[in-house]
Amino acid sequence: MTSSFNKIYQYSIQKPEEFWKDISEDIHWYKKPSKILNKANPPFYKWFEDGVTNTCYNAIDVHIDKGNGDKTALIYDSPITNKKAKFTFNELREKISKFAGALDNQGVKKGDRVIIYMPMIPEAVIAMLACGRIGAIHSVVFGGFASNELASRIDDSKAKILITASCGFEPGRTVEYRPLVDGALKLANHKVGKVIFFQREGHEVNLNSPLEIDWEEALVNAKDKDCIEIGANDFAYILYTSGTTGIPKGIVRDIGGHIVALKWTMKNIYNIDENDVWWSASDIGWIVGHSYIVYAPLFKGCTTVLFEGKPVGTPDAGVFWRIISEYKIKSLFTAPTAFRAIKKEDPDGKFFSKYNLSSFESLFLAGERADPDTIKWAENLLNVPVIDHWWQTETSWAISSNCTGIEMQKTKYGSACKAVPGYDVKIIKPDHSIAKPNEMGDIVVKLPLPPGTFPTLWKADKRYEENYMTNYKGYYQTYDAGHIDEDGYIWIMSRTDDIINVAGHRLSTGAIEEVLSEHQSVAECAVLGIADKLKGQLPIGMVVLKSGVEKDNDTISKECIQMVRDKIGPVAAFKVVIVIKRLPKTRSGKILRGTIRKIADKEEYKMPATIDDPVILEEITQSLIENNILNK
Ligand code: COA
Ligand code: AMP
Repeated sequence: MTSSFNKIYQYSIQKPEEFWKDISEDIHWYKKPSKILNKANPPFYKWFEDGVTNTCYNAIDVHIDKGNGDKTALIYDSPITNKKAKFTFNELREKISKFAGALDNQGVKKGDRVIIYMPMIPEAVIAMLACGRIGAIHSVVFGGFASNELASRIDDSKAKILITASCGFEPGRTVEYRPLVDGALKLANHKVGKVIFFQREGHEVNLNSPLEIDWEEALVNAKDKDCIEIGANDFAYILYTSGTTGIPKGIVRDIGGHIVALKWTMKNIYNIDENDVWWSASDIGWIVGHSYIVYAPLFKGCTTVLFEGKPVGTPDAGVFWRIISEYKIKSLFTAPTAFRAIKKEDPDGKFFSKYNLSSFESLFLAGERADPDTIKWAENLLNVPVIDHWWQTETSWAISSNCTGIEMQKTKYGSACKAVPGYDVKIIKPDHSIAKPNEMGDIVVKLPLPPGTFPTLWKADKRYEENYMTNYKGYYQTYDAGHIDEDGYIWIMSRTDDIINVAGHRLSTGAIEEVLSEHQSVAECAVLGIADKLKGQLPIGMVVLKSGVEKDNDTISKECIQMVRDKIGPVAAFKVVIVIKRLPKTRSGKILRGTIRKIADKEEYKMPATIDDPVILEEITQSLIENNILNK
C-alpha cells in the first residue's frame, strides 16, 4: 500500500501545476492566477504569473477579516533587556499601516528597496510588513555584519531608505548601530535618501543630519496605508547571502509563490494549526528568520515568537524551556548549534526539570548538519521527535524534511529525511549520470523549482543561470553533496563550494580570504572551516608573508583578525590566523585547502598526486600543533 506521504509526494512531482493550483486556493488573491506555471523561458520559471495579491494582507489583514483580530499574532520576549510584549493582529495592523504611511511620506513607492538593519525587536517585523503593504522590497541585513557588508548591500540594491535602531544588545556588549551605519554610508557609492532610527529606551542617539529621522517623528504625520494590489511575480524581498566571492548574492522572492508555499509548509511540514503557538529561535537577518519568525506563521495565522536573546547566558541555559512553557509553544525551530550550546552548559538538563513543557510536541533543526549526538541528547531530554531538515536561503523553505503534518516518518540519525513535496531531488555523479541509492554526488533539484524558491538573483539573471543552472542542465545545483539511500532518505555531507557554516551562519571562506589579502604584509592566504564542537565549523586563516616583512607574526595575526571583524563583522567568529612559510599547492598552483582542512580535523588524507612539494604538509601539521589547533 502506498503511504499517504508517498502519494502526495508523487502527485507533486508528476502533476506540479495541479498540486500547487489546489494549494494556491488557500491564500487571498485580489485576482486569482489564470495560469499556474509559465515554463516558456527555462530556467526562469514563473509561478502564478497573472495573480494579484499582497504579502501583508495575507499575513495580517486576512485574519482580521476572518474575525481573528484580537488573537495574539506576535510575542516579543527579550531576556537581554527584560522586556516582553504581545501584539494582536489588530494591534500589529495599526502599527504596520501607520509605518507604511511613514514610508510613503518619505517617498517610498512600489518596487523601491528598503534596507532594514535592526536587532530582534518588533519594529523590525513592523518595518518588513509595512514594506509588503505598499509593495516596497525589503532587504534585511543581519546586525552582526560590519559596515562593509552593509555598504555592498546598499550598493547592489540601490536602496531608497535605510531603517535601523539606536543599538542592539549582545551579551556583555551594546552594538551601536550609528557608527556602523555611518561607515556604510561613507563606503557605499549609492546614496540612500533617508535613515530612520528607532530609538531604544535609555540608548537614544542624537540625530543631527537632515538625512536622519526618528522613527516616532516619522510617524507623526503618517496616514494609515492600506494594502496595495500587487503582481504575484513582483518581489517581496531581497536577502543577500554568501557567494563564492566577496560580492553577496541577492536572493529574491516573488510574492505569490512565497505566500502559497510558506503557508502550506506550516501544516504539512511542521503540523502547526491556526491556534498553535510557534517559535523559531533564529534572527530575522537570516532566511530562517524571514520565513519562520515572520512570514509562514503569520500567513498561517498562528502565534509567532520573536526572541531577543541567546540559548545560554540570557540569563541561563533554561531560557528555551522557560519560553516554551510560558507561551505553551507547540514546536520550536532552531539551529543545532543552539542545542549544542545548551548541552554544553547543562548536560544533565537541570534547568529543564524546572519547567512544564506539556504543550511541546516537536523540535525542528536546520541550518547546518545536526549531529546524531545532539539529536539523541535532545530526544532524551525533551521526549518529543527531533527533526533534522535541510534547506537554503535560495529555497526559503525545506527541501527535505519529515513532513509531520502529512505522515510521520521514522528517524534516521544523520539524515535530513526525505524530499518534501515539490522538490524532485537527485544525486548526480561527476560523470553527470544519476547516482544509484547510496552513491555520493552533487545534490541537485530537477527544474522547475516549486513556488516560494528564488526565481532569479537581484538584477543578475546571468549570474543566476551560470551559477546555479548551468553545470547540470535542467537541474538546480544546491552546492551540497551527499547521497540518497534506498528508502529515499537524503544525507547531506558537505558543501561543494567554499561556503562554511559557523553556528548556523553561512560564510564564504573566499570572502574572508579577500579581506586577508588586503593586509599589506600578506603575500597569499587560505581560509578553511575546521570542525568545532559548539559552532559546527570555525574559520581559520593561514597567511604567508611577503619577503622582508619585519613586523612580528603575532601583530600580523591580530591585525588580520581585526580586519575581518571590521570588514565582515563579528559574526564571522574569525579568531585564528597562523603565519606559515608556504602553502601547499598543486603543480598548477591551486592551494590544497581540502588537504589542510583534513589535517586540521585529524582526518585521514591521501597525499595529493599533484602536490608540488609534500614537505609543506609536514610544516603545516607542525604549525597547527604549535598553534594548539591539532590538540583540540
Ligand atoms: N549583532 C551584532 N553582533 C552579533 C549579532 C548581532 N545580531 N549576533 C552575533 N553577534 C556577534 C556576537 O556578539 C559575537 O561577537 P564576539 O566575537 O564579540 O563575541 C559574534 O557575533 C559571534 O556570534 P555567535 O555566532 O552568535 O556566537 P556566540 O559565541 O555569541 O554564541 C551560540 C554561540 C551558539 C549561542 C549562538 O551562535 C547561537 O545562538 N546560535 C543560534 C543559531 C542561529 O540562530 N542560527 C541562525 C540560522 S538558523
Ligand atoms: P543558508 O542559506 O544560510 O540557510 O545555508 C544553507 C546551507 O546550510 C545548505 O546549503 C547546507 O550546506 C547547510 N544546511 C542547512 N540545513 C542543513 C541540514 N539540515 N543538514 C546539513 N546541512 C544543512
